[in-house]
Amino acid sequence: MKWRVVNDYQALSAFAGDILLRALRARPDVVLGLPTGRTPEGMYEHIVAECGREYRCFSSAQTFNLDEYVGIPPSHPGSYYSYMRHHLFDHVDIRDDNVHIPDGAAQNLEAECARYELEIAQAGGLDLTFLGLGRNGHIGFNEPGTPFDSRTRVVGLTESTRRANAPEFQDCPVPTRAITIGIGTILDSKRIVLFASGTEKAGIVWRFASEDPSESLPATALRSHPDVTVIVDRNAAAELGELWDM
Ligand code: GLP
Repeated sequence: MKWRVVNDYQALSAFAGDILLRALRARPDVVLGLPTGRTPEGMYEHIVAECGREYRCFSSAQTFNLDEYVGIPPSHPGSYYSYMRHHLFDHVDIRDDNVHIPDGAAQNLEAECARYELEIAQAGGLDLTFLGLGRNGHIGFNEPGTPFDSRTRVVGLTESTRRANAPEFQDCPVPTRAITIGIGTILDSKRIVLFASGTEKAGIVWRFASEDPSESLPATALRSHPDVTVIVDRNAAAELGELWDM
């Protein structure tokens, strides 16, 4: 696992965004695993700005989002579909049929999860997956207690996760369930980038760096993966001083 500590959120966003842009340039038909949440917003902004300068950026790329809420339509402003349109897809040359997001409004959720897992496999698997870090260590919506070999499925959201995501749901309750790709699905990605920013992540970053792998901290599953880059800004790295001479 490679760690990169950068000065601030802007540097973190540019660092992560450049990893994605380099992957796109090296292989225009790259298959990307993409996150939502506040952390990646700056990365998407950086990518949109850079892609504006290039003739083609996402024209052959495929994207698979990590997760989506259950019970709200894609058009709902709190959906991750809306998030992705707003922050990335509406501003780059990605083809609609190359965008993949689980359908949280599907009639048959189990069938939808199986379909999504199959779509990833049919695309040849994820080449490069970006992950935020939940305050309780979740990745995607894989909450503490998730087996490391889990696949795409419907999950219940913890109260702390629902509270953290409440700002996107001003007019209705935060959904209680989501579809998420599994930890096993994430570990199958050829390369993984996890990023965390801000003092509110310092505690969980310290736990992630110091604790032995266990299902109680889902992100520790990444320890077994051969190609993981962790990017943290100084605020998120604030408690690592005891572990490293920084
Ligand atoms: C959400 C998302 C995760 C994200 C995490 C952290 O629950 N489902 O994919 O990584 O929370 O979000 P943030 O970046 O807003 O802290």
